[in-house]
Amino acid sequence: MLFKKTKAHSEQELNYIVPDHIAIMMDGNGRWAKKRGLPRTSGHYAGMTTMREIIRNCHQLRIKYLTLYAFSTENWTRPEEEVNYLINLPKLFFQGEVLDELQRENIQIRYIGDITKFPKSIQNIMEESKEMTQKNTGMIINFAMNYGGRADIIQAIQNCINEKHNPSEITEELFESYLHTKGCPTPDLIIRTSGEKRLSNFLLWQSERSELWFTETLWPDFNKELLVSAIMEYQERKSRS
Ligand code: FPP
Repeated sequence: MLFKKTKAHSEQELNYIVPDHIAIMMDGNGRWAKKRGLPRTSGHYAGMTTMREIIRNCHQLRIKYLTLYAFSTENWTRPEEEVNYLINLPKLFFQGEVLDELQRENIQIRYIGDITKFPKSIQNIMEESKEMTQKNTGMIINFAMNYGGRADIIQAIQNCINEKHNPSEITEELFESYLHTKGCPTPDLIIRTSGEKRLSNFLLWQSERSELWFTETLWPDFNKELLVSAIMEYQERKSRS
């Protein structure tokens, strides 16, 4: 049963231990394509289609924050053709009626990472989706684009220094306000697909208390059933703690 009441809550309170913030490492697109004799880019296209469906599912399940690892700082080292395809995915994603649907669903789009490294035309698409949805009050999606946990920490340190903070005033709260995820609660649950069991430079500071959930399923095959399994296991773990 999803969103079951746990012993941590009284009978009167209809409080359910639902993760507010789910972060997903969408891994395995390349292997999915290889298994089918397709180019890696086909795997990324299939992964983008799955991502759209999982956004819908998270919205239906009333998840408040969804962070998606779409392009890491390490992804620049892939073959040029693949990098070009990956950095153009926002163009492919937002064409058509997707933005209208996100608007109707009251979803807000944000980006974490250094997006200034992307071509101007792609930056414009990202900025447009951010601006168009900035007043929406429903689920917040953070697309991690050119994001790396270490780079996030370094830019936060640089900005603390630029702002001339006295070392003694640097607290965890102050430091967090300089991270790309500022104002966003830390992830309750991090999902990684494709059998890898590493954080791979994702949300290194922010994952301090996150529950980690792994599946062998390759990202393009991920679905609502697996999402619900991850949430249910999260609930089980929380009810035991
Ligand atoms: C990792 O699989 C996945 C990626 C590098 C890209 C993930 C991006 C999406 C699913 C869509 C993003 C869309 C937008 C609009 C931002 P991999 O290539 O590392 O797979 P492998 O480990 O099997 O090689």
